[in-house]
Amino acid sequence: MRIDKFAAEQTGISRADAKALIKRRQIIVNGVPVSSGDVHVDPENDEIIIGGKHIIYREHLYIMLNKPAGTVCAVKDELSPTVLELIPPELRRKGLFPAGRLDKDTEGFVFITDDGALAHKMLSPRSHVEKEYEVTLEKPAKESYKELFASGMTIDGGEKCLPAEIIFTEDSKKVRLIICEGKYHQVKRMMEAAGNKVVFLRRIRIGGIPLDPELPLGNCREILHKEVANLYAKQ
Ligand code: URA
Repeated sequence: MRIDKFAAEQTGISRADAKALIKRRQIIVNGVPVSSGDVHVDPENDEIIIGGKHIIYREHLYIMLNKPAGTVCAVKDELSPTVLELIPPELRRKGLFPAGRLDKDTEGFVFITDDGALAHKMLSPRSHVEKEYEVTLEKPAKESYKELFASGMTIDGGEKCLPAEIIFTEDSKKVRLIICEGKYHQVKRMMEAAGNKVVFLRRIRIGGIPLDPELPLGNCREILHKEVANLYAKQ
């Protein structure tokens, strides 16, 4: 692979920026500053330092973001800050996008990647990847919700949902809900169909990957490849 392509893909800089770094002798391969963008490197085996940073090659990057309210799950937005703007420079690279959406006022786990094939599979309704939410309700939850959600309820517009699981907590206005699809505003619409209203929503798990409790709101961390393997695991 060309070093300028490698630098752009792995760090998110432009090819022009990569050329400028090469000119300043700031791209070093196996201890030797690179003299031109068309030098070829072996991403798996060469030791590559770009702008003083040792680059560990990854074909794809997987990121966990603890999304704060007020940001939108989009690559670009004219009006609101996007989740991509919260990615720190060391995790930026070309082609990142949020795999799945949370509403602007929802907090919690957003999965960001540049792996289109994995995102496609993860988002496919046939994959049945579980999503778990902490839900704060306007009114106390009723015992009857258990059966209602488990039976696969119909929401507004006549859309039928797959069976979902509700978990009650000590606070009757706080429940956890596990769904395995991703219809538009699904949790809010399910609660409305049950005669209640969501006042706060946070996603705390996708498949077998829980939101890291140590990850502060608005922060990101890399999801390691061995954790990605848990995506399709049930909890
Ligand atoms: N369901 C919703 O209603 N909103 C979200 O952000 C996610 C799931």
